[in-house]
Amino acid sequence: KTPKNHILVIFGASGDLTYRKLVPAVYDLYDKNMLPKNFAVLGLGRTELSDNQFRRKMEEGIEKFALNNTGSALKSKIDTFLQKLYYYAFNTKEEQEYAGFKDKLLALDKELGTENNFIFYLATPPSMYTTIPCHLARQGLNNEDEGYSRLVVEKPFGYDLESAQQLNESLFRNFRERQIYRIDHYLGKETVQNLLVTRFSNTIYEPLWNRNYVSRVEITSAESIGVGSRGGYYEGSGALRDMVQNHLLLLASLVAMEPPALIDSNSIRNEIVKVLQSLRTIKEEDVAKQVIRGQYINSTVKGKKVKGYRQEEGVDPESRTETYVAIKFFIDNMRWGGVPFYIRTGKMLPTRVTEVVIHFKPTPHHLFSSHATIAQQQNQLVIRIQPDEGLLLKFGMKVPGAGFNAQNVNMDFHYTDLADVYLPSAYERLLQDCMLGDSTLYSRGDAVEAAWKFVKPIQDAWKNNKDIKVHGYPAGTWGPDVADELIEGSDLTWRYPCKNLANDDK
Ligand code: BG6
Repeated sequence: KTPKNHILVIFGASGDLTYRKLVPAVYDLYDKNMLPKNFAVLGLGRTELSDNQFRRKMEEGIEKFALNNTGSALKSKIDTFLQKLYYYAFNTKEEQEYAGFKDKLLALDKELGTENNFIFYLATPPSMYTTIPCHLARQGLNNEDEGYSRLVVEKPFGYDLESAQQLNESLFRNFRERQIYRIDHYLGKETVQNLLVTRFSNTIYEPLWNRNYVSRVEITSAESIGVGSRGGYYEGSGALRDMVQNHLLLLASLVAMEPPALIDSNSIRNEIVKVLQSLRTIKEEDVAKQVIRGQYINSTVKGKKVKGYRQEEGVDPESRTETYVAIKFFIDNMRWGGVPFYIRTGKMLPTRVTEVVIHFKPTPHHLFSSHATIAQQQNQLVIRIQPDEGLLLKFGMKVPGAGFNAQNVNMDFHYTDLADVYLPSAYERLLQDCMLGDSTLYSRGDAVEAAWKFVKPIQDAWKNNKDIKVHGYPAGTWGPDVADELIEGSDLTWRYPCKNLANDDK
């Protein structure tokens, strides 16, 4: 399907997101002939740039970050694409400057034949998420009488429940839910979408996918880098807001949700929101027991000194902001009653990996002596989101030779076996969907609020109770040791994944 002719208007076009992600993703769509005939990107920002200067900067971004830019053969293609980029400088805070912007936009629309269809992408600091939509509306640019008007809002969507509710309310004053596209780039990842396909296109998993056969679910999203130059932003955010409220709760919802009636935006998003609304609230007094908060400290990794979080630029030297968080929680519904879910995320961990592990219950009786411990008897299904994308099933087999000794073996599938081309980037997929008017892979307002509601008592406990420890952990380790104590069961721990799906560290 090709989208209708339109203009993609990017607020914050001189920023990093536009340079690294957005324009390279639009170029990838162009390269695959997925853009309409009449199309333009109109970049907006405070920095004064000519169209030409903007094009040169974006050319550099495309060369570095577009996935299907495989060399000089594409140079002429990039050149024709660059002609579709325009730039207009104005101060987006000032209402009186919007009339000039509107004139520019409508003139471009007329010249190019983009039929009054506009996508407004907010790649700006979140403080602008209420101002810009309001000024757009005053210019009538929220109106869909002639074409369409869509608004894409980047994360973070609020910084707590109250601010997320206020942001929704403010957007709803001028835009309808169907016009609003809230980005969670995890939903744009192929392997995240594949969670639904794995679950609902196979007979072998779904009958076991419940409290009768699953003993626990584990979700890890680890990064091996620190906060780098983002200290200023991160200091006011922390891992709970930065990763858990959005990406990790979304992954948990896709693992736990009921099959949707249809594959369409409302059916899927209805099921996601039901899971989020079924999360058992962690009481403030239980936060210390169920939530582990950590921060990386000064350390030496492979002979090299690594700065602790408190020494990073833009960070308070006495900061309590967490760079690691692990949570145990329950989903109170018929399918999952009593099954613990464990999620963890952190910076400066041993490797970059995101995966879901479904741990199945052991057989009710264990016959084979070498399969002695509960951990050894359990089947595991590992769904690897990144890297080495794929699926791994662990199950017991007889060890050849005398007696009946059992041992867990691996059966694995790697995405590279299925697709010999690159996996499209999350932004490529999400932008394409927005251009087609499909919001399935975007977060709905009620889901965002439900996720904040779950996170709220944790934020409150951390704010109100300074006795809750922020555990230091050396860079290159799997976070605070106490996180292992979260896992119910004496010989059970987290899986310690490696870069390669089939291996783990223990
Ligand atoms: C972003 C967070 O949303 O996700 C970053 O703000 C984090 O701190 C990033 O590094 C991780 O995304 P990915 O796609 O690399 O797993």
